[in-house]
Amino acid sequence: NKVSFDYSRASSFIRDDEVTMMSKLVLDARDLLVSKSGAGNDFLGWIDLPVDYDKEEFGRIQKAAEKIKGDSDVLLVIGIGGSYLGARAAIEFLRHSFYNMVSKETRKTPEIYFVGNSISSTYIKDLMDVLDGKDFSINMISKSGTTTEPAIAFRVFKKMLEDKYGKEEASRRIYCTTDKARGALKNLATEEGYESFVVPDDVGGRYSVLTAVGLLPIAVSGADIGKLMEGAASGRERALNCDFAENDALKYAAVRNILLRKGKSVEIVANYEPSLHFVSEWWKQLYGESEGKDQKGIYPASVDLTTDLHSMGQFIQDGARIMYETVLNVEGSRDELVMGEEPVDLDGLNYLAGKTVDFINKSAMNGTILAHTDGNVPNLMVNIPEQNEFYLGELFYFFEFACGISGYVLGVNPFDQPGVESYKRNMFALLGKPGYEKEREELMKRL
Ligand code: PA5
Repeated sequence: NKVSFDYSRASSFIRDDEVTMMSKLVLDARDLLVSKSGAGNDFLGWIDLPVDYDKEEFGRIQKAAEKIKGDSDVLLVIGIGGSYLGARAAIEFLRHSFYNMVSKETRKTPEIYFVGNSISSTYIKDLMDVLDGKDFSINMISKSGTTTEPAIAFRVFKKMLEDKYGKEEASRRIYCTTDKARGALKNLATEEGYESFVVPDDVGGRYSVLTAVGLLPIAVSGADIGKLMEGAASGRERALNCDFAENDALKYAAVRNILLRKGKSVEIVANYEPSLHFVSEWWKQLYGESEGKDQKGIYPASVDLTTDLHSMGQFIQDGARIMYETVLNVEGSRDELVMGEEPVDLDGLNYLAGKTVDFINKSAMNGTILAHTDGNVPNLMVNIPEQNEFYLGELFYFFEFACGISGYVLGVNPFDQPGVESYKRNMFALLGKPGYEKEREELMKRL
């Protein structure tokens, strides 16, 4: 069993000779990636991470996670973008659907809340209410150490922690994940003696889930980060060494570029498990920031099904024909529920008696795939045998590798993100940050 890619249901949209032609481009792209001779080649540390990571730090992450589990009712994870989405995706994928709400006896680990991924005072204040009377720790995550959203949240919750425990104990409850040497957060961590973990120089934010960025919060949630790395190592082995015909990451990169060249410029990732919602969010960031540049790219979108069949389903079936769909199919559901029979069939559901809810879900999925295909939406599938750490590691690596390849085929640098700076410049100018006086004057005239 393994995470696998299947485009057989899209065969009426993709010819074999197109795949043959594109396979040459993706194999060239793999050479470029692996030989580290393409654009963005100083950000390729993620390729070998699953087999070549800092074991000493890995041990410290596990130790820190044990300490947090022992002394905290709550862990606050502060970060945004690549410093947030991977951990959240993993925890929601691996743990209880109502993780923060079930009893501590069931969960056995701290509640985990994410903050610093918006600038909402309502959200911050409401989270402060949740912390009332609870022991908590903070994992502040920022590679640059200068990102505004998490920095604001950190200032607020650091003060709350210091007011509660005093500066010294607070400093033992703050864990920083940042650059090894640079940035305001690194300086603060050194000054205050916070335990620090490193985001390697050569791993960009959206490729950092398998560094301390993702691993510490994931470990605190009780998931097995060793198994996660093993799964990623298995994904790496296949991505690097398999021929095109057996190489799912290469095939996915090839097929999406074929579809793009046929005018399918939107990819909708669809899941049928609510616990995959944040895997889609993580995937959107990975592909959106990696490919959406130089006026090019496939727009990454997502839907949660069957939920969104009652909102976005109409558009996918029948609206502008600009998209294809990639279904994240969890083959074996974690828990089973069988429909009962009622003596009087008032709700008309007795025809489902004895069937599992997962069978009904899969029937909805298969029916939807056929309907969308009939509606001219090519369907791709990523099969995930079950929701555990190993397969999640494989899935993360599959998407990361395919993204690097796909970006090179598209002719962009998949490892930079120049576009995210524009809003920051305007925001700093409007807020009156020193050094932005001239921009401020210009912008004020336009408002
Ligand atoms: O992928 C990226 O590079 C970004 O999404 C960053 O992760 C995000 O902007 C947060 O940056 P930082 O970790 O420096 O605070």
